[in-house]
Amino acid sequence: MTDPKSLSRERFAEHADEYVKSPTHAAGADLDKLVELTHAQPEWVALDVATGGGHTAIAVAPLVAGMVALDLTPEMLDAARGLAEERGIAGIEFVLGDAEALPFADESFDLVTCRIAAHHFPDIQRSVDEVARVLRPGGRFVLQDQCVPESAASAAFVNLFDRLRDPSHSRALSQSAWAEVVRRSRLSLGESAHFEKRMALTEWTRMQSCSAETVVRLREMLADASEVALAWMAPEGDGDDLSFVIRQLVFCAEKP
Ligand SMILES: C[S@@+](CC[C@H](N)C(=O)[O-])C[C@H]1O[C@@H](n2cnc3c(N)ncnc32)[C@H](O)[C@@H]1O
Repeated sequence: MTDPKSLSRERFAEHADEYVKSPTHAAGADLDKLVELTHAQPEWVALDVATGGGHTAIAVAPLVAGMVALDLTPEMLDAARGLAEERGIAGIEFVLGDAEALPFADESFDLVTCRIAAHHFPDIQRSVDEVARVLRPGGRFVLQDQCVPESAASAAFVNLFDRLRDPSHSRALSQSAWAEVVRRSRLSLGESAHFEKRMALTEWTRMQSCSAETVVRLREMLADASEVALAWMAPEGDGDDLSFVIRQLVFCAEKP
């Protein structure tokens, strides 16, 4: 069986350009809020973990003195580098690495961001422990990820739905599970915000080249969802018009 990180690398290598072009990733009120919560200062050195197409690193880089963008997938780093060049954003250092074993010294960053990626990490606690290690005291962590309901059964359902579309999806957390992870990493939780993104099932599955059988199975899952899961995912329409909601959590935390 392929290990989760090799699977992530394989799938993102194959779909790198899709993530650069994806409107969900490229912009939005969620990205604006993430940038606002960084409280970025011109003398700061920042790290963007799992930079993907580079949208977060590119948004924050002009606000700080130094920006390092890290990702597990070489093809994603190439795609992000290309987008930064296209946008005329110079000075981002692109580094190949794993969120669960950051290749940086203790206390080397003022700010760490991580957007729409943690659900791919097999050990989220370890990745946040790593963030806490590389932050200087007083440094800030701003995370955005899709989140799941507090009910364990509905959370499992939403994660199963996501994993069927993308087998490199490990597990998205609920808001209270995130609060516990942050507490265990000895960071102080600050402001948080929620965003909803309505996705067309056809576009969402196209981005990951899902087979026709997988699309049928996803439609069946939505049709059979429990009341809690239905309230969470809010499916609307049918056929090519079927859409549902992905809920995103954005929060900041500080290293004391
Ligand atoms: C959806 S993309 C990230 C989107 C991006 N942060 C943005 O703001 O648009 C997810 C990324 O996580 C990366 N990734 C998955 N597992 C990782 C890990 N363990 N360490 C670092 N990067 C990882 C993938 O290679 C992929 O580029």
